[in-house]
Amino acid sequence: MITAVDVIRTKRDGGELSTAQIDWVIDAYTKGSVADEQMSALAMAIFLNGAKPREIADWTAAMIRSGITLDLSSVGRPCVDKHSTGGVGDKITLPLAPLVAVFDVAVPQLSGRGLGHTGGTLDKLESIPGFQVDMTEAQVLEQLKDIGAVICAATGDLAPADKKLYALRDITSTVEAIPLIASSIMCKKIAEGADAIVLDVKVGSGAFMKEFAQARELAETMVRLGADHGVDTRALLTDMSIPLGRTAGNALEVRESVEVLAGGGPEDVVELTVALAEEMLAAAGKPDADPAAALRDGRAMDKWRKMIAAQGGEVDAPLPVAREFEEITADADGFVTEMDAYAVGVAAWRLGAGRERQGQPVQAGAGIEILKAVGEPVKAGETVLRLHTDTPERFAAAKETLEGQWKIGGEPAKRGPIVLDRVTA
Ligand code: URA
Repeated sequence: MITAVDVIRTKRDGGELSTAQIDWVIDAYTKGSVADEQMSALAMAIFLNGAKPREIADWTAAMIRSGITLDLSSVGRPCVDKHSTGGVGDKITLPLAPLVAVFDVAVPQLSGRGLGHTGGTLDKLESIPGFQVDMTEAQVLEQLKDIGAVICAATGDLAPADKKLYALRDITSTVEAIPLIASSIMCKKIAEGADAIVLDVKVGSGAFMKEFAQARELAETMVRLGADHGVDTRALLTDMSIPLGRTAGNALEVRESVEVLAGGGPEDVVELTVALAEEMLAAAGKPDADPAAALRDGRAMDKWRKMIAAQGGEVDAPLPVAREFEEITADADGFVTEMDAYAVGVAAWRLGAGRERQGQPVQAGAGIEILKAVGEPVKAGETVLRLHTDTPERFAAAKETLEGQWKIGGEPAKRGPIVLDRVTA
C-alpha cells in the first residue's frame, strides 16, 4: 500500500519515486485525500533534492490525467501555443496571438493572472472595456475556426492538480524548482491539445531563473517533456534583466501592444514578438511566412480587432488611465546604463498593477512608464520614469523600491540581445 508519509520520506531521503507512487500521490492530492500539509512537505523535498527526468515525466503525465484534455482536431489547421515563464513588461502574447493567426495557424492562448511582480495576460486584457476572459470549450473552438486566435482563462477542469499545487507552492516558497516549474507549465500546455508549443524562457533579475545555466536546464526539461508527449516543443531563452519595452502595468501594456500591432512600438518588443512568431510559424510548417511584414501592413492589427471584438471588447474605447501620476527625474546628464527588471516589476505591483493574494482586484491604469530606457541619453531634470496609480499613498513604497535600481553613466550603454539561445528536441 502506498501512503503519503512513505512518499514524502522517499523524497526527503534523496530517493527516487516510482511511477506508481507519483500516480497515486497526484490523484490522491487532487481528490483531497492527501492533505495540503503533506503535499507541502513533498514539494519542499523535491525543491531540495530535485527529481530525475523519469520522475518529472511521470509527474507531468499524472497532472495531465488529473483533468480534461482539449481536442482541437476540429479546428482544421495547425494549432500552436506559446508560453512565457513570466517577466516584467512581458506583453508579447497580446500582439503575438493575432500576428500568428494571420498565417492560418490557430493560436489557443489559455492564459493566467498575475501574481507577485510578474503581470498576467488576463489582467492586461481585462483593462479593455467589455473584454471577456471566461469562455466555454465550444466558444474557444468556434473562435479558433472563425478568427484563429483566442486569449482566455484556462478552465478549472484542465490540470486541476496543478491549480491546487501551484497555489500551495506559492505560499510555501517552493515555486522556483525546475522539476516543479517544468511539470506545472507543460502539463497545462500539453492538456490544451496544441500541435506545437513555443516556450519563452526568461533569464535575469525579473525572471524565476536568474542564471543562464538554470534557465537552459528548465528549457531543456520542458522541451523533453513536450517531445515525450509527441508535441513539437521549442524554446527561446530571452533576456529579462531589464524590463521588456517601456511599460509595466495592465492598460499601459495594452497600449504598447497596440502600438506594436500598428507597426510601431519599442524595438525589443517587436524583435521578440517577431522571433517567437517565426518559431511558431516554423513549428506549424510555415517557415517562409514573414510576420514582420504582417505587423507593418496592418494584417495583424485586423486580426487583433476581430479577436477583441469577438470576446466582447470595445476595440476603440479609450483605455483606463490611473487617477494620479508622479515622475522620477534624472539628477545628472548621461546615459541610462541600468534598469533592474525585478525592481520595476515590484514597483508596478506596489502601485496596484498586481495582487498580493489570488482573487484580489488589480488597478487597470496602475504601473510604470519608462521614458528613458537603457542606452538612451538623458539630461538632468528630464523624466526617466512615470509612476501611475489610483491610490497615491502607494507612490512612496514604489519609489523606495526603485531607488538605486536604475543608473546613469557617462558612456552610452547598449541593450544586449533579447534572444540569448534556442533549445529544440
Ligand atoms: N508558471 C506556471 O504555470 N507554473 C510554475 O510553476 C511557474 C510558472
